[in-house]
Amino acid sequence: MSNNHVEVHEANGAAFRYAPDHFFKSQPSASYIANEEQYRQMYDQSINDPETFYGNLAKEYLHWDKPFAKVKSGSLEKGDIAWFLQGELNACYNCVDRHAFANPNKVALISEPDEESEAYSITFQELLEKVCKVAGVLQSWGVKKGDTVAVYLPMTPEAVIAMLAIARIGAVHSVVFAGFSAGSLKDRVVDAGCKVVITCDEAKRGGKTINTKKIVDEGLNGVQSVSHILVFKRTGNPAVNMTPGRDFYWDEACAHQRSYIPCVSTNAEDPLFLLYTSGSTGQPKGVVHTVGGYLLNSALSTRFVFDLHPEDVFFTAGDVGWITGHTYALYGPLSLGTATIIFESTPAYPDYGRYWRIVSKWKATHFYVAPTAMRLIKKVGEQEIDKYDISSLRVLGSVGEPIQPDLWEWYNEKIGHNNCCIVDTYWQTESGAHLITPLAGVFPTKAGAASLPFFGIAPAIIDPNTGKELEGNDVSGVLAVKSTWPSMARSVFNDHQRYIDTYLKPFAGYYFTGDNAARDNDGYYWIRGRADDVVNVSGHRLSTNEIETVLDEHDGVSECACIGVNDDLTGQAVIAFLSLKEGACDISDEHVFMGFKKSLVMEVRGSIGPFASPKAIIVVDDLPKTRSGKIMRRVLRKIASNEAEQIGDLSTMANAECIPRILSAVDNQFLSKKK
Ligand code: WTA
Repeated sequence: MSNNHVEVHEANGAAFRYAPDHFFKSQPSASYIANEEQYRQMYDQSINDPETFYGNLAKEYLHWDKPFAKVKSGSLEKGDIAWFLQGELNACYNCVDRHAFANPNKVALISEPDEESEAYSITFQELLEKVCKVAGVLQSWGVKKGDTVAVYLPMTPEAVIAMLAIARIGAVHSVVFAGFSAGSLKDRVVDAGCKVVITCDEAKRGGKTINTKKIVDEGLNGVQSVSHILVFKRTGNPAVNMTPGRDFYWDEACAHQRSYIPCVSTNAEDPLFLLYTSGSTGQPKGVVHTVGGYLLNSALSTRFVFDLHPEDVFFTAGDVGWITGHTYALYGPLSLGTATIIFESTPAYPDYGRYWRIVSKWKATHFYVAPTAMRLIKKVGEQEIDKYDISSLRVLGSVGEPIQPDLWEWYNEKIGHNNCCIVDTYWQTESGAHLITPLAGVFPTKAGAASLPFFGIAPAIIDPNTGKELEGNDVSGVLAVKSTWPSMARSVFNDHQRYIDTYLKPFAGYYFTGDNAARDNDGYYWIRGRADDVVNVSGHRLSTNEIETVLDEHDGVSECACIGVNDDLTGQAVIAFLSLKEGACDISDEHVFMGFKKSLVMEVRGSIGPFASPKAIIVVDDLPKTRSGKIMRRVLRKIASNEAEQIGDLSTMANAECIPRILSAVDNQFLSKKK
C-alpha cells in the first residue's frame, strides 16, 4: 500500500489517513524517513540497540566538545537514568554558534510582537552577539555553571536570548510563564534558589499592557537569593520602579559587554533547565532536564516528526513559559539551524486573521498549536482563513490536549486544505519531547489518534486495578513507558524522592505518564485524558488540588472540591464546588453572592494566575463523601457533566441524600446559565 496519497479506508472503526499526494514531491528535498518500513526498522533499533541508534544520531546531530564514553545507563527501577556519559557539550553552541559560523546571515528568529507592524527577524550572527552580551552580563554578576536563573518574560526574542545566554555559561534556566501571579513566581524562584531574574518593564498582550516588573517586585519581596534583576525595556515606561544596585536595564547592561564570549562546556548530564509543572498533589515540581539527552531528542523529534528541512520556517504558537515553547519554539528548530517564529500576541489580536497573516508573511511551512486555539478560530474566526495565502504550510501540529476527530478534520480541511500532514503529538513536560506521534508523511494517521511511538519509546497500557501490563491490541488502561529515552526528566529539583514516587513507583519498572490511553486493533494509541487530578484548560496544565488549596484558605469556605469538565472552547474547564462557613455569604441575595464568588476568583487569579480561574463556582450545603470522609470527586464530575444517571456505585458514599441538592445547585448556578 503506497502511503503518499490521500486514501481513506475504515480499519477498526477509524479511518486511516495518508499523506497528501504532493507531500513528497513538493519537499525541498526528500523526506528524511522514506516510508513506514524504514520507521519500523529505526524504531526497532532504537528499542533493541539504543547504544548504536542514539550513539550514531548523537554524533550526527550534535557538536560535542568531548565525546561521550557510554550512550546510556541506569534503570526505571532505580531512577538513576543517564545518557551520553562523560560527554561534554554546550546547548547554546549547538543552537547558535555552529549555525552562525556556517550561515551567519540565515534568519534564526522571527519576532511577531503584539503590535503587528513591528515584526522583524534576526540572523544567527545577530543572535550570537545578543546572546553573548547577556551571557556576559550574567557572568559579571557572578552567575556560574550550575546556578539557576529565572526568566519571567513574555514570548519575545528576549526570552529566547535569555535562555540561550543562561545555557551558554552552563547555568540553569527556570522559565516562569509570564501569566503566573507574583506568589507563583515567588514559590518557583525560592524553590530553585535563583540568583538572577530576567524580566521586562511591562508586557503587551492583545493590546493590553501588563505591569510585569511590578509583579516581579511583589513576588521577590523578601526573597534573599536574588541579587540582580535584568529588565528588558519592552514599553520603556519611565514610571516603572527600578531598585538601585539590584535592577538593571538590559540595553544599558549589555552595552558594556563583548559581542563574543566563549561557551562553557557542560556535562551531558548537567541540568539545562528546570520547568515547574503541576501534578496531582503538593506544590508544583521543578522538572529537571539535562543538556545532552534533552537537546538530542529536541533535534530528532523536530526533524523526524515534522520533517523539518533547513530552509523551512517553523511557527510554534505556544509560549516559552511551557515545555512546547522550550522544545519546539527554541531548542528543536534552532538546534537544526531553522528559523523559528516567536509570537507574542493572541490569535484574536488585532483580529482573527493574525495567525494566517503571520503564515503568509513569513511563508511558514509548519504550524504547531493547541487544539484550544483551533476551537476558537473555528468558532469565531473561520471566515478569516481564506483571505490569506497559507499555501506555504506543509505540516500542521497539534499539542497539549486530545484533538477531537471532527476538529482534526476541520484542521485538515480548512487550514491544511487537504494538502498538509497533520501530526497530533502526545507528550509532556517530563518527557522533554514527543512520546507518541505521527511522523509527517511516513505512516498513515487516524483523526484523533496520537498514533505510534516515537523512537526510543516503548509504551505500555496498564490495568490500573491490577497493575499488570495489558498485552496485545484493543486494550485500554493507563499509559506508561517501559524504556528510558534521552530526553526524559531526570529528577524533581531538590526532591529526587518525589520524582521516584510520582513517576517510577506507581508501576515498578515503568515510567507512569498519568494519562489514560487505548491501543486499537492496528496498534495505534489514543490518549483519553488524565487519570489523576490534573486538568488541561486551554492547553495549560493545572492541578485541581492547587486551586482547592487556594479556595480552602478563603475565610468563607468550609470545604471545597475542584473538578475538570469538558468545555467546547477550552477543552476542559475547572468547576469549584464549595460549602460555606456559617454566615459567610447570603447566597439568596444575587448581588452579594456574585461579589462573594468574584472574591474567590480573585484569590485564584492572584495566587496562581488568571488562566486558573474556575469557570463556575457552585455553592452546595454538603459535598459527597465516602464513609471515611474522602470527597468523591467522580460523583461531582458526573453531575457537572450532566451525566448524573451514570454516577455509578454509591455504596461507599456516606451522605447520598446530598445528591439531589447538589443536582439542583448545579442546575441553578451553572447549567441554567449555559442553556
Ligand atoms: C496532555 C504539554 C492528548 C496529556 C506538551 C499530558 C495530550 C499533558 C497531548 C502534558 C495530545 C499533551 N493528546 N493529550 N496530543 N499532548 N497532552 O506537561 O494529558 O503541559 O499528560 O505538556 O497534556 O501537559 P504538559
